[in-house]
Amino acid sequence: MLTGSPDYRDSGLEFPAGFLLGSATAAYQIEGAVQEDGRGPSIWDTFSHTPGRTLGGDTGDVADDHYHRVNADLDLMQKLGLEAYRFSIAWPRIQPNGTGKPLEAGLGFYSRLVDGLLERGIKPIATLYHWDLPQALEDAGGWPARDTALRFAEYASVVGEALGDRVDVWTTMNEPWCSAFLGYGSGGHAPGRTNDLSALRAAHHLMLGHGLALQELRHVVAKPDAQYSITLNFHALRGDDSSSPEAIRRIDALGNRLFTGPLLHGEYPVDLLEDTSAITDWMFVYPGDLDTIRQPIDFLGVNFYSTATVRMWDGRSPRASNDGHRAVGASPWPGSRDVEFLEQPGPLTAMGWNIAPDALEELLVSLSTEFPSLPLVITENGAAFDDVEADGAVHDDRRIDYLRRHFTAAHRAIARGVDLRGYLVWSLLDNFEWSYGFSKRFGLVRVNYETQERIIKDSGHWFARLIEARRIPEGRE
Ligand code: FCB
Repeated sequence: MLTGSPDYRDSGLEFPAGFLLGSATAAYQIEGAVQEDGRGPSIWDTFSHTPGRTLGGDTGDVADDHYHRVNADLDLMQKLGLEAYRFSIAWPRIQPNGTGKPLEAGLGFYSRLVDGLLERGIKPIATLYHWDLPQALEDAGGWPARDTALRFAEYASVVGEALGDRVDVWTTMNEPWCSAFLGYGSGGHAPGRTNDLSALRAAHHLMLGHGLALQELRHVVAKPDAQYSITLNFHALRGDDSSSPEAIRRIDALGNRLFTGPLLHGEYPVDLLEDTSAITDWMFVYPGDLDTIRQPIDFLGVNFYSTATVRMWDGRSPRASNDGHRAVGASPWPGSRDVEFLEQPGPLTAMGWNIAPDALEELLVSLSTEFPSLPLVITENGAAFDDVEADGAVHDDRRIDYLRRHFTAAHRAIARGVDLRGYLVWSLLDNFEWSYGFSKRFGLVRVNYETQERIIKDSGHWFARLIEARRIPEGRE
């Protein structure tokens, strides 16, 4: 039921008191300073330094130099009026080899960041893992190895102890689907391995790591009202012919239910086990693992950017390349080689991702129907466009339009009864967009990579007005 404009360009909609409005980043994408204060190498250092892996050979060596500019960046957040800031902690800054005694310098950096947020009245939302696995743990087997989940729990305990008196929200993993399927399946992300069994093992061990880490956190965190969560990237799927329902079921199983199943139902979906039976008998799931994974969480983090349209592969179109988040062509992922991802109709962002705010509304409603008592938070949503800087300003109207339409979708979901608690825009700053390097800009704030100068884009000013008034600004207001 539509209550506003069919194109989701509504203005003036108000968000309830307590609805958290903020922005998000991730450590490797912004920090730079990769060799400072004892930080060890992560899989993204190795991957980005391997020729041919990232566009233009870009690396996160310097990125936004946030490690050195954290105070100025905190002031920017305050200027925008952010109520919450979702950042990630670089595991190799805390434990350079992924285990053992933590580095005081690494903990100190995040401790100062958290204090800086609190001083400015901004809620810290800390993600423990946003893809930068210590290289030493990858060398020992990476996420396909069960031991990595145990090491992750050890790391969670160390960080929880150091920051647990001040962090409002803990998120264990960011988008485990990407770590498992892009990292170990298609190889488009670090560590760039391509092995079906490894991808499925990685998925399970990431979820096990989540459960073990939550147990540790609840044990060591000193703040009694701290909240616990995990962030998933949901595959919002659409069909285009009579084979699509089967294709949707397959990708929904691998892309969505593989994670929500153990997390929220305490089991892996039966159809998923069947679809992947040629690859594995899933004996790497030990007795008790599913109970460990199904820990209570306070909310589910939802990352949303666009949709995918699927049907069964007719054997003619080529297999999709492995260059990043989105595939077009026959699926490169395990258990779905006979599914095809179709080119999306526009309008598209600079990533080539289609703009579909209605799908965000549908996704939120369907999640809240499946999990009625589970609050949701949009932990990432935003868009890359080819911004142009002129005279110290960036008139990024298309990003404002994208955000307006997705905020409208979120508002409509709330109006339909979804318990949506917040919305964090990706991203605070232009940054290292993984295999796309610095070619894609998602920031509310422009970063000049030559000078490290920051310029608040029009979308940043627009978002600041939204936060201040707690409603979607009118027109170009
Ligand atoms: C998400 C990632 C985030 C960023 C956005 C565009 O999948 O979590 O780091 O790359 O996509």
